[in-house]
Amino acid sequence: MDGSKSKQIGRDSVNSAPGFPYFTTMAAAAAACRLLRLAPRRLRSPRHSAPTALSLFPTPLSASSGWRSYCAAAQASAPPPAAAAAAAAGEAVGEFRRRLRVAEVKGGEDEGAAWVGKELTVRGWVRTCRAQRTVTFVEVNDGSCLSNMQCVLTPDTEGYDQIDCVTTGASVIVEGVVASSQGGKQKVELKVSKIVVIGESDPTSFPIQKKRASREFLRTVAHLRPRTNTFGAVARVRNALAFATHKFFQDNGFVWVSSPIITASDCEGAGEQFYVTTLLSNTAEGGCLVNNIPSKDGRVDWSQDFFCKPAFLTVSGQLNGETYASALSDIYTFGPTFRAENSNTSRHLAEFWMIEPELAFADLNDDMACASAYLQYVVKYILENCKEDMDFFNTWVEKGIIDRLSDVAEKNFVQMSYSDAIELLIRSNKKFEFPVKWGLDLQSEHERYITEVAFSGRPVIIRDYPKEIKAFYMRQNDDGKTVAAMDLLVPRVGELIGGSQREERLDHLEARLDESNLNKDSYWWYLDLRRYGSVPHAGFGLGFERLVQFATGIDNIRDAIPFPRVPGSAEF
Ligand code: 4AD
Ligand code: MG
Repeated sequence: MDGSKSKQIGRDSVNSAPGFPYFTTMAAAAAACRLLRLAPRRLRSPRHSAPTALSLFPTPLSASSGWRSYCAAAQASAPPPAAAAAAAAGEAVGEFRRRLRVAEVKGGEDEGAAWVGKELTVRGWVRTCRAQRTVTFVEVNDGSCLSNMQCVLTPDTEGYDQIDCVTTGASVIVEGVVASSQGGKQKVELKVSKIVVIGESDPTSFPIQKKRASREFLRTVAHLRPRTNTFGAVARVRNALAFATHKFFQDNGFVWVSSPIITASDCEGAGEQFYVTTLLSNTAEGGCLVNNIPSKDGRVDWSQDFFCKPAFLTVSGQLNGETYASALSDIYTFGPTFRAENSNTSRHLAEFWMIEPELAFADLNDDMACASAYLQYVVKYILENCKEDMDFFNTWVEKGIIDRLSDVAEKNFVQMSYSDAIELLIRSNKKFEFPVKWGLDLQSEHERYITEVAFSGRPVIIRDYPKEIKAFYMRQNDDGKTVAAMDLLVPRVGELIGGSQREERLDHLEARLDESNLNKDSYWWYLDLRRYGSVPHAGFGLGFERLVQFATGIDNIRDAIPFPRVPGSAEF
């Protein structure tokens, strides 16, 4: 916010406000408003108590009140003597209380009717401002839900002199009384008694205007796109999916384990890792000089690097997860993973989040059962808890998504072997771009055909893949040709989950490492798990952004994560 201008705008209204006893400038008021994040609320949410008067701007309270410390902090430039004395003595930190948000007012069955007649303060960002002859309608969104609070101002409203600054994108605090709305779009609106512009937004340059912007364009303004309906809804559903993930596993006795982000082993053996090195960090102007990179026999000398050997960003937390499953029984990891795959597709990111449960004393059937139950749980969770956002996706992003997800939550998943899947694809007589032949990996077009066409949108698990196309750690089946692997395929996305029963037999695992040309020595600790108390165990990995795509209908994975990292782009 521009300080000088804000002083000019704010001085009169702020100084005349009874609720601002100490503020001498609007800048001080804005600073105080920022501090409000830390300030206690005067009210609990309606879940805890009936709605009563709410005010952003406190009147001075007793020395023991949490509000007092907020007021004292707000007048940093000229503390009154009492506050200075209190500061010298030291004070208790104020009590944290939940902030009342628009979702709590409008989100109930009655869409806010119970709040009519109550005072309310809304803090948020202006979506639109429409001036009519006698009244001005300002739509304010605080991000808690899709719905805006329609705020009705008249020229008598305190702070109306700032109306020219109430433009799309500006942040405001509005105070008023909830009233039944005359308009058909909402049950309630706010009859505003006072408005304060906290941060202006130049309407000539603010990139997100009312007209619908393409998702491609919004990716170029990823720092502002959460202020749109679509990206706000995606962020809330993503959050609900993360919450439901923890809840599912915690309720089922799993322990969350943090797997490392920096690792020296390549879990998938696919060579898609990003190096982590300090060898390139020197201060030479224009960057590191190639001649300064230590080398030995024409190769980079990693012994001189930070970790004294090559290190990478992890592609999967599985191997570390297995160590904890071999002690705590059932665990899961949930964290970022990285792949230097040069694939510019709508399903691949270079940085994505993965959920990887690992179950001890378990086989592939247990693994498939866990994956199905998990997916059904999180889908049901968002259908029940994100109704407004899901209705939005149903109308604007993918028509029918609610029915599709309801089916997923209710109906049994299908499972079939890789060999049967190949048969099915060959018998379909469909022309695919990539060849279909036993021994070749399934491509996205094959996966989508199976789940979308052959099984009409039901999730399908393909199991028992040829060992040559799968990772070294998967348990070899008795046929000697296949491994106990499973991929869960869903419509629109294709592979959502990849998992397997792990090879728990030391000799078999060592043989697979040799076959895969992997250095046994560097997997010494992983092999130890097979030496000391080995158990049959299984697990899977789910790409969290693919789950967000599946659950919201968003086509492109770049729109399922706040700041996508893809080949050629690490902006923001
Ligand atoms: O099938 P993947 O490679 O399996 C593993 O990494 C195993 N270690 C998991 C385990 O058994 N613990 O990856 C698992 C999932 C895929 O099914 C996919 O959903 C997602 O991770 N995934 C990606 N998501 C976005 N961008 C990418 N580049 C992805 N690569 C894999
Ligand atoms: Mg896979």
